Amino acid sequence: KAKTELKDFLHISDFDTDTITNILLRAAEVKALLKSGERTYLPFKGKTMAMIFAKPSMRTRVSFETGFFLLGGHAIYLGPDDIQMGKREETRDVARVLSGYNDIIMARVFAHQDILDLAKYATVPVINGLTDYNHPCQIMADALTIIEHIGQLEGTKVVYVGDGNNIVHSWLLMASVIPFHFVCACPKGFEPDEKTVEKARSTGISKIEITNDLKEAVRGADVVYSDVWASMGQKEEAAYRQQAFQGFQVDETLMDLAGKKAFFMHCLPAERGVEVTDGVVEGPKSIVFPQAENRMHAQNAIMLYLLGF
Ligand code: CP
Ligand code: NVA
Repeated sequence: KAKTELKDFLHISDFDTDTITNILLRAAEVKALLKSGERTYLPFKGKTMAMIFAKPSMRTRVSFETGFFLLGGHAIYLGPDDIQMGKREETRDVARVLSGYNDIIMARVFAHQDILDLAKYATVPVINGLTDYNHPCQIMADALTIIEHIGQLEGTKVVYVGDGNNIVHSWLLMASVIPFHFVCACPKGFEPDEKTVEKARSTGISKIEITNDLKEAVRGADVVYSDVWASMGQKEEAAYRQQAFQGFQVDETLMDLAGKKAFFMHCLPAERGVEVTDGVVEGPKSIVFPQAENRMHAQNAIMLYLLGF
């Protein structure tokens, strides 16, 4: 299959630059249409989506369900206790059964292999709504938000501060497709997956830095980006991580060091007073709520692309 004819949306780097750029352009177009109050564009009329959640969610659940509905379709929420994918029933069976009922599947899971298996056995498109490894829909929404506030992602300096987690992996995979300067500033021992860093660097598309020197990292940033120190599935490590991440809180002093042009972004949910201060989240450079809103618009464009509209 050609790169642009993939069935599923699992990793940003599965797609070429033109496809990702076009999805982002489409997101802006359909956003403008929906914001204008227009409710007659209903390409998903008669279509249904199954949404599998093995983990909690506010943004992913509500933005997918609302977006699919606003474009004419019906979305079905399946929570952690409903189908119990991999426990009550094998993933490959879930994939084939749901493909018989639904036009598209979105799933949030723990092990990345689960989303790969789901996509392999489903005959309908599968969208990755976060795994322990990555979170592509989030970084598509983040790119859209950066385009809206700065004009473009190309050439900007995005400095992620914190754990080298699923969000970082998706930023690295975005950096394999669109050229910008990505810096991950994390404590020693919390660096992102080495193979993913290498994969992104080997494309030669973006400048990529992984550093333990936070103060140096944020200088000249266009965006300072933060996420929780303990992701879903790591909550029992929260106390230990709070110790290990001392000095990596995004506070007003750090934002001053970054400079006047730096926006603050966070995928949310945020733990104020832990990875970021309340003052930064509520501050004049924070764009966390437009960022959250853009989840719906980015995902609408992803679904339109996968369903052939
Ligand atoms: N950012 C994000 O994915 O939020 P939820 O966990 O609430 O879906
Ligand atoms: N890294 C976080 C992102 C939440 C949207 C987690 O996986 O819990």
